[in-house]
Amino acid sequence: MRSIFSSDVLQGKTVVVTGATGGIGQSIAQQLAQMGANLLLTGRNQQKLARLKQSIQAESGQGKIETIPADLTDAKDRERLVKETRKALGSIDILINNAGVFAGALLEEVEQAELERVMNVNFTSIVMLTQQVYEEMRRRRSGKIINISSLSGIRGWEGGTIYASSKFALNGFTQCLAVEAAKYGIQVNAVAPGFVETDMAKEAIGVKARRAGKSLEEMWSQMEKGLPSGRLSRPEEVAAVTAFLCTDAANNIIGAQMRISGGGLLG
Ligand SMILES: NC(=O)c1ccc[n+]([C@@H]2O[C@H](COP(=O)([O-])OP(=O)(O)OC[C@H]3O[C@@H](n4cnc5c(N)ncnc54)[C@H](OP(=O)(O)O)[C@@H]3O)[C@@H](O)[C@H]2O)c1
Repeated sequence: MRSIFSSDVLQGKTVVVTGATGGIGQSIAQQLAQMGANLLLTGRNQQKLARLKQSIQAESGQGKIETIPADLTDAKDRERLVKETRKALGSIDILINNAGVFAGALLEEVEQAELERVMNVNFTSIVMLTQQVYEEMRRRRSGKIINISSLSGIRGWEGGTIYASSKFALNGFTQCLAVEAAKYGIQVNAVAPGFVETDMAKEAIGVKARRAGKSLEEMWSQMEKGLPSGRLSRPEEVAAVTAFLCTDAANNIIGAQMRISGGGLLG
């Protein structure tokens, strides 16, 4: 087994990273590029994808990098994404389902359209994209599927009806598929971060702040103080754990929910 700390540990592997235009996705892409992977980066924002590709190529430039803009809630976009990835980079070895959206709503505030939108991005589209990629992995009897879930998929919270429920569903899917897929040599796992310093955390902590009549800064600091580590996680810390799960060192990790939370949920 090659050392997981060598710069060619993922050489020759094709990895699809969804949500690559966001805070965590960008870090995952940068980390995997440093490990030699061939990357297919996707998100809806074409300009952000182009800028990310440029910056990764300027920094590491080992593996190939392709970008395909796609709205993952659109079945045709998902189909095109998989087809074009195979054409550009060959078979998909690793799928990282990282794209996601946040919503904070008490039950009385829940609107069906919003519930369906979030469930679609955070759950339904992941199941359907994975189904397309899984078929080929099963035939080849190898592959890795990593779902970026959340601590919100492990414990509920006031206002989490939409977001937390979507992440509970994603964790359920991860466990079910992990059991189905293991016999084909495919490892399926979840990464479950607590708050991570990205735009999404600003949005989520902002909702909590408004409810409590506090400023974003006050609520941010309160969230940090509530954690055993005393701080939120950084995108590169989530990327490092995700990258570990991409290596052969993680071949016997099946159906895990890797928490990166500064000790959140322990206290
Ligand atoms: N930040 C946190 O505190 C935190 C904590 C726990 C878990 N997470 C999870 O980590 C993942 C990444 O979050 P983040 O903090 O990096 O969020 P972010 O910066 O808001 O990025 C979200 C990503 O999802 C993509 N996306 C959203 N809707 C999409 C759609 N319909 N089709 C395709 N792509 C779509 C966005 O791309 P475009 O805008 O280009 O479409 C963007 O790349 C999410 O699944 C999130 O739930 C985050």
